[in-house]
Amino acid sequence: MQTAHRSIVVLTGAGISAESGLATFRDKDGLWEGHRVEDVACPEAFARDPARVQRFYNLRRAGLQTVEPNAAHLALARLQRDYPGEVTLLTQNVDDLHERAGSQGVIHMHGELLKVFCGRCGWKRGWQGDLTGSDPCPSCERTHTLRPDIVWFGEIPYRMDEIEDVLMRAEVFAAIGTSGHVYPAAGFVSLARFHGAATIEINAQGTQVSGQFDRHLVGPATVEVARWVEECLG
Ligand code: APR
Repeated sequence: MQTAHRSIVVLTGAGISAESGLATFRDKDGLWEGHRVEDVACPEAFARDPARVQRFYNLRRAGLQTVEPNAAHLALARLQRDYPGEVTLLTQNVDDLHERAGSQGVIHMHGELLKVFCGRCGWKRGWQGDLTGSDPCPSCERTHTLRPDIVWFGEIPYRMDEIEDVLMRAEVFAAIGTSGHVYPAAGFVSLARFHGAATIEINAQGTQVSGQFDRHLVGPATVEVARWVEECLG
Protein backbone atom coordinates (compact mmCIF):
# COMPACT_ATOMS: atom_id res chain seq x y z
CA MET A 1 0.00 0.00 0.00
CA GLN A 2 1.57 3.27 -1.11
CA THR A 3 0.75 6.03 1.39
CA ALA A 4 0.73 9.39 -0.36
CA HIS A 5 2.11 11.93 2.16
CA ARG A 6 -0.65 11.53 4.73
CA SER A 7 -0.84 11.87 8.50
CA ILE A 8 0.28 8.67 10.20
CA VAL A 9 -0.55 7.64 13.78
CA VAL A 10 1.40 4.76 15.28
CA LEU A 11 0.45 2.90 18.49
CA THR A 12 3.08 0.68 20.05
CA GLY A 13 2.90 -1.94 22.79
CA ALA A 14 5.28 -4.22 24.67
CA GLY A 15 6.00 -6.29 21.55
CA ILE A 16 8.11 -3.53 20.01
CA SER A 17 10.48 -3.66 22.99
CA ALA A 18 10.56 -7.48 23.22
CA GLU A 19 13.61 -7.83 20.96
CA SER A 20 15.42 -5.32 23.14
CA GLY A 21 15.00 -7.81 25.99
CA LEU A 22 12.06 -6.23 27.88
CA ALA A 23 9.33 -8.66 28.94
CA THR A 24 5.89 -8.36 27.38
CA PHE A 25 2.78 -8.83 29.49
CA ARG A 26 0.88 -11.73 27.96
CA ASP A 27 3.34 -13.80 26.04
CA LYS A 28 4.30 -16.24 28.74
CA ASP A 29 2.63 -17.76 31.76
CA GLY A 30 0.75 -14.56 32.50
CA LEU A 31 3.23 -13.58 35.16
CA TRP A 32 4.95 -10.29 34.65
CA GLU A 33 8.53 -10.77 35.71
CA GLY A 34 7.37 -13.21 38.38
CA HIS A 35 4.45 -11.10 39.60
CA ARG A 36 0.75 -11.19 38.86
CA VAL A 37 0.03 -7.80 37.31
CA GLU A 38 -2.78 -7.29 39.83
CA ASP A 39 -0.25 -7.64 42.65
CA VAL A 40 1.93 -4.77 41.52
CA ALA A 41 0.18 -2.57 38.94
CA CYS A 42 -2.84 -1.12 40.73
CA PRO A 43 -3.49 1.48 43.46
CA GLU A 44 -4.79 -1.21 45.83
CA ALA A 45 -1.50 -3.12 45.58
CA PHE A 46 0.41 0.09 46.30
CA ALA A 47 -1.78 0.85 49.31
CA ARG A 48 -1.48 -2.76 50.55
CA ASP A 49 2.29 -3.20 50.11
CA PRO A 50 4.01 -0.05 48.84
CA ALA A 51 7.53 -1.42 49.39
CA ARG A 52 6.81 -4.43 47.13
CA VAL A 53 5.42 -2.21 44.38
CA GLN A 54 8.33 0.24 44.67
CA ARG A 55 10.82 -2.67 44.50
CA PHE A 56 9.11 -4.02 41.37
CA TYR A 57 9.34 -0.67 39.58
CA ASN A 58 12.87 -0.01 40.88
CA LEU A 59 13.97 -3.28 39.24
CA ARG A 60 12.27 -2.33 35.97
CA ARG A 61 13.72 1.19 36.08
CA ALA A 62 17.23 -0.23 36.67
CA GLY A 63 16.64 -2.76 33.89
CA LEU A 64 16.31 0.07 31.37
CA GLN A 65 20.04 0.77 31.76
CA THR A 66 20.80 -2.71 30.42
CA VAL A 67 18.78 -2.59 27.19
CA GLU A 68 19.00 -0.67 23.93
CA PRO A 69 16.46 0.46 21.33
CA ASN A 70 16.09 -2.07 18.53
CA ALA A 71 15.68 -1.74 14.75
CA ALA A 72 11.92 -1.22 15.10
CA HIS A 73 12.35 1.78 17.44
CA LEU A 74 15.00 3.18 15.09
CA ALA A 75 12.78 2.69 12.04
CA LEU A 76 9.93 4.66 13.67
CA ALA A 77 12.33 7.47 14.58
CA ARG A 78 13.43 7.53 10.92
CA LEU A 79 9.79 7.63 9.79
CA GLN A 80 9.15 10.64 12.04
CA ARG A 81 12.30 12.36 10.74
CA ASP A 82 12.00 11.64 7.01
CA TYR A 83 8.30 11.30 6.30
CA PRO A 84 6.92 14.50 4.70
CA GLY A 85 3.53 14.16 6.48
CA GLU A 86 2.72 14.32 10.23
CA VAL A 87 3.73 11.22 12.24
CA THR A 88 2.40 10.88 15.81
CA LEU A 89 3.76 8.14 18.08
CA LEU A 90 1.46 6.85 20.84
CA THR A 91 2.81 4.20 23.18
CA GLN A 92 1.47 2.00 25.95
CA ASN A 93 5.07 1.31 26.92
CA VAL A 94 6.66 2.95 29.94
CA ASP A 95 10.24 2.40 28.76
CA ASP A 96 12.29 5.16 27.13
CA LEU A 97 13.42 3.20 24.06
CA HIS A 98 11.47 5.31 21.57
CA GLU A 99 13.14 8.45 22.91
CA ARG A 100 16.58 6.85 22.95
CA ALA A 101 16.03 5.80 19.32
CA GLY A 102 15.43 9.48 18.47
CA SER A 103 11.62 9.71 18.40
CA GLN A 104 10.11 13.08 19.36
CA GLY A 105 6.93 14.02 21.18
CA VAL A 106 6.09 10.45 22.18
CA ILE A 107 2.71 10.24 23.94
CA HIS A 108 3.10 7.78 26.86
CA MET A 109 -0.54 7.03 27.62
CA HIS A 110 0.41 4.60 30.44
CA GLY A 111 3.10 6.80 31.97
CA GLU A 112 6.88 6.47 32.15
CA LEU A 113 9.23 4.40 34.33
CA LEU A 114 11.70 7.29 34.43
CA LYS A 115 9.26 9.68 36.09
CA VAL A 116 7.74 9.83 39.57
CA PHE A 117 5.01 11.98 41.08
CA CYS A 118 3.70 12.91 44.49
CA GLY A 119 0.27 11.48 45.29
CA ARG A 120 -0.31 14.30 47.74
CA CYS A 121 0.74 17.52 45.94
CA GLY A 122 1.04 16.38 42.31
CA TRP A 123 4.73 17.28 41.94
CA LYS A 124 6.22 15.29 38.98
CA ARG A 125 9.80 14.95 37.69
CA GLY A 126 12.22 12.59 35.93
CA TRP A 127 13.68 9.96 38.27
CA GLN A 128 16.60 7.62 37.41
CA GLY A 129 17.47 5.66 40.57
CA ASP A 130 15.51 3.67 43.14
CA LEU A 131 12.46 5.20 44.80
CA THR A 132 11.54 4.33 48.40
CA GLY A 133 8.81 5.45 50.78
CA SER A 134 11.34 7.40 52.81
CA ASP A 135 12.23 9.68 49.86
CA PRO A 136 10.58 12.99 50.73
CA CYS A 137 8.63 14.86 48.06
CA PRO A 138 10.91 17.76 47.05
CA SER A 139 7.86 20.00 46.91
CA CYS A 140 5.62 19.21 49.89
CA GLU A 141 8.42 17.40 51.82
CA ARG A 142 6.07 14.61 52.88
CA THR A 143 7.44 11.05 52.89
CA HIS A 144 5.56 7.97 51.61
CA THR A 145 3.79 10.06 48.97
CA LEU A 146 6.08 9.61 45.91
CA ARG A 147 5.08 6.88 43.42
CA PRO A 148 6.12 5.71 39.95
CA ASP A 149 4.47 7.74 37.18
CA ILE A 150 2.72 4.64 35.85
CA VAL A 151 -0.98 4.53 34.97
CA TRP A 152 -2.18 1.51 36.97
CA PHE A 153 -5.21 -0.63 36.32
CA GLY A 154 -8.31 1.33 37.21
CA GLU A 155 -6.62 4.67 36.54
CA ILE A 156 -7.23 6.96 33.56
CA PRO A 157 -4.63 6.88 30.75
CA TYR A 158 -2.88 10.17 30.03
CA ARG A 159 -3.58 12.67 27.23
CA MET A 160 -6.66 10.92 25.87
CA ASP A 161 -8.07 14.17 24.40
CA GLU A 162 -4.94 14.66 22.29
CA ILE A 163 -4.97 10.99 21.33
CA GLU A 164 -8.60 11.06 20.18
CA ASP A 165 -7.90 14.20 18.17
CA VAL A 166 -4.98 12.68 16.25
CA LEU A 167 -6.88 9.43 15.67
CA MET A 168 -9.83 11.32 14.18
CA ARG A 169 -7.42 13.08 11.79
CA ALA A 170 -5.31 10.03 10.98
CA GLU A 171 -5.14 8.87 7.37
CA VAL A 172 -3.02 5.87 8.32
CA PHE A 173 -3.16 4.05 11.70
CA ALA A 174 -0.57 1.40 12.54
CA ALA A 175 -0.62 -0.76 15.68
CA ILE A 176 2.69 -2.44 16.49
CA GLY A 177 3.44 -5.12 19.11
CA THR A 178 0.20 -4.91 21.06
CA SER A 179 -2.23 -7.73 21.84
CA GLY A 180 -5.42 -5.65 21.79
CA HIS A 181 -6.31 -6.85 25.31
CA VAL A 182 -6.39 -3.53 27.11
CA TYR A 183 -8.69 -0.56 26.45
CA PRO A 184 -8.78 2.27 25.53
CA ALA A 185 -5.74 1.47 23.30
CA ALA A 186 -7.45 -1.62 21.84
CA GLY A 187 -10.28 0.62 20.62
CA PHE A 188 -8.04 3.06 18.72
CA VAL A 189 -8.24 1.07 15.47
CA SER A 190 -12.04 1.33 15.31
CA LEU A 191 -11.98 5.07 16.02
CA ALA A 192 -9.36 5.61 13.30
CA ARG A 193 -11.28 3.41 10.83
CA PHE A 194 -14.52 5.24 11.58
CA HIS A 195 -12.82 8.46 10.50
CA GLY A 196 -11.47 6.93 7.31
CA ALA A 197 -7.97 5.79 8.20
CA ALA A 198 -6.24 2.94 6.42
CA THR A 199 -5.21 0.52 9.19
CA ILE A 200 -2.29 -1.89 9.51
CA GLU A 201 -1.36 -4.28 12.31
CA ILE A 202 2.30 -5.28 12.71
CA ASN A 203 2.68 -8.08 15.24
CA ALA A 204 4.39 -11.42 15.86
CA GLN A 205 1.00 -13.12 15.70
CA GLY A 206 -2.74 -12.49 15.34
CA THR A 207 -4.42 -10.51 18.11
CA GLN A 208 -7.84 -9.92 19.64
CA VAL A 209 -8.43 -7.06 17.22
CA SER A 210 -6.72 -8.31 14.04
CA GLY A 211 -10.11 -8.50 12.29
CA GLN A 212 -10.44 -4.70 12.47
CA PHE A 213 -7.30 -3.99 10.44
CA ASP A 214 -7.15 -3.67 6.66
CA ARG A 215 -3.68 -5.13 6.48
CA HIS A 216 -1.33 -7.30 8.60
CA LEU A 217 2.42 -7.70 8.67
CA VAL A 218 3.11 -10.79 10.79
CA GLY A 219 6.59 -11.31 12.18
CA PRO A 220 9.20 -9.77 14.47
CA ALA A 221 8.91 -6.01 14.82
CA THR A 222 12.60 -5.49 13.99
CA VAL A 223 11.93 -6.94 10.52
CA GLU A 224 8.35 -5.94 9.78
CA VAL A 225 8.45 -2.35 11.08
CA ALA A 226 11.61 -1.65 9.12
CA ARG A 227 9.91 -3.07 6.01
CA TRP A 228 6.78 -0.97 6.52
CA VAL A 229 8.79 2.23 7.09
CA GLU A 230 10.75 1.58 3.89
CA GLU A 231 7.42 1.29 2.09
CA CYS A 232 6.07 4.50 3.67
CA LEU A 233 9.19 6.41 2.68
CA GLY A 234 8.77 5.05 -0.84
N1 APR B 1 7.65 -8.48 17.41
C1 APR B 1 6.34 -8.14 17.22
N2 APR B 1 5.36 -8.43 18.11
C2 APR B 1 5.72 -9.09 19.23
C3 APR B 1 7.05 -9.47 19.50
C4 APR B 1 8.03 -9.13 18.53
N3 APR B 1 9.33 -9.46 18.69
N4 APR B 1 7.08 -10.12 20.70
C5 APR B 1 5.81 -10.13 21.16
N5 APR B 1 4.99 -9.52 20.28
C6 APR B 1 3.54 -9.29 20.39
C7 APR B 1 2.79 -10.41 21.08
O1 APR B 1 2.37 -11.38 20.13
C8 APR B 1 1.60 -9.66 21.68
O2 APR B 1 0.50 -9.64 20.77
O3 APR B 1 3.37 -8.16 21.18
C9 APR B 1 2.12 -8.22 21.85
C10 APR B 1 2.34 -7.85 23.30
O4 APR B 1 1.11 -7.91 23.95
P1 APR B 1 1.03 -7.62 25.53
O5 APR B 1 2.08 -8.41 26.23
O6 APR B 1 -0.41 -7.79 25.92
O7 APR B 1 1.46 -6.09 25.68
P2 APR B 1 0.58 -4.82 25.40
O8 APR B 1 -0.42 -5.06 24.30
O9 APR B 1 1.51 -3.68 25.24
O10 APR B 1 -0.22 -4.63 26.79
C11 APR B 1 -1.04 -3.48 26.90
O11 APR B 1 -1.48 -4.04 29.21
O12 APR B 1 -0.66 -4.83 31.21
C12 APR B 1 -1.06 -3.70 30.53
O13 APR B 1 -0.33 -1.50 30.92
C13 APR B 1 0.07 -2.72 30.40
O14 APR B 1 0.65 -1.29 28.54
C14 APR B 1 0.29 -2.62 28.90
C15 APR B 1 -1.05 -3.02 28.33
